[in-house]
Amino acid sequence: MLIAKTIKQAKKAISEAKLKNRTIGFVPTMGALHYGHLSLVRAARKSCDFVAVSIFVNPAQFGPKEDFRKYPRAFIRDERLLQKEKVDLIFYPSVAEMYPKDFSTYVEEIYLSKPLCGLIRPGHFRGVCTVVAKLFNIIEPDTAYFGQKDYQQACIIKRMVKDLNFPVTVKVVSTVREKDGLAMSSRNAYLNCQERKDALVLFESIELAKKLVRGGGKNPKKIIAKMRKLILSKKSAKIDYIEIVDAQSLQKVDKMQKNVLIAIAVYIGKTRLIDNVIVHLKGS
Ligand code: PAJ
Repeated sequence: MLIAKTIKQAKKAISEAKLKNRTIGFVPTMGALHYGHLSLVRAARKSCDFVAVSIFVNPAQFGPKEDFRKYPRAFIRDERLLQKEKVDLIFYPSVAEMYPKDFSTYVEEIYLSKPLCGLIRPGHFRGVCTVVAKLFNIIEPDTAYFGQKDYQQACIIKRMVKDLNFPVTVKVVSTVREKDGLAMSSRNAYLNCQERKDALVLFESIELAKKLVRGGGKNPKKIIAKMRKLILSKKSAKIDYIEIVDAQSLQKVDKMQKNVLIAIAVYIGKTRLIDNVIVHLKGS
């Protein structure tokens, strides 16, 4: 397994793999890896000859009051985990390598980025698109893997790939959860014991919503009200948003339809967590 800290080193490793006609699978991450990340790596390992993983805490996607500085960093542990998964290349650049002083070009998707997390984190998806576009140009993957946990992010990346004609196939992998249902996230490490218990309410509330929709619930407002009540029964919880939107356009729906995304962002203490579920209704 090669660790490339510069773009030049990464490009060299990639061009050598391409010379051998190896297909490139790519998993972009911000590190502090967990089984959610590893499920993407395993999907890549299964289908591609050469697997590259990037570890880069991208300052461009953090707001000024967000947790860029304290975001967990655990390179030695990450390296060990990726070695076990038989990854071929870790791209682990510095901020200066990715964003030199005179950097002044950004990539912005302007439709799917507006609702949900985009409303509350202005500039976040611009930072994500910019770094992923750069990473795609450096790694030149055939296939790139993203998690459903960040469903909006995956939709935006798919749109960017289509709009800007990146020769990359984007695959979306299901959310990996802890045994009790909490979606795995690097930010779960911030939770204290009580908060970890309270955090389960994210999963419980989307499960409740799924049940209500499948049971014939037609009015998103009523479903959201029930989710809100459940979430606010936890002392440490503060709701950022609860939304029921069309799973393709991410626009709000006022009555239930075929494919909806139920998406939530909730602060548990000071930690902002997100989760979602897609409900497919037959024949509606
Ligand atoms: P990060 O939060 O490290 O996540 C990297 C990838 O892992 C994303 O595609 C995310 O959706 C996926 N992932 C996270 N938790 C998951 C889980 N429980 N189950 C399945 N997949 C999960 O997302 C980012 O980094 C960044 O925005 C990035 C795309 C790397 C750009 O900086």
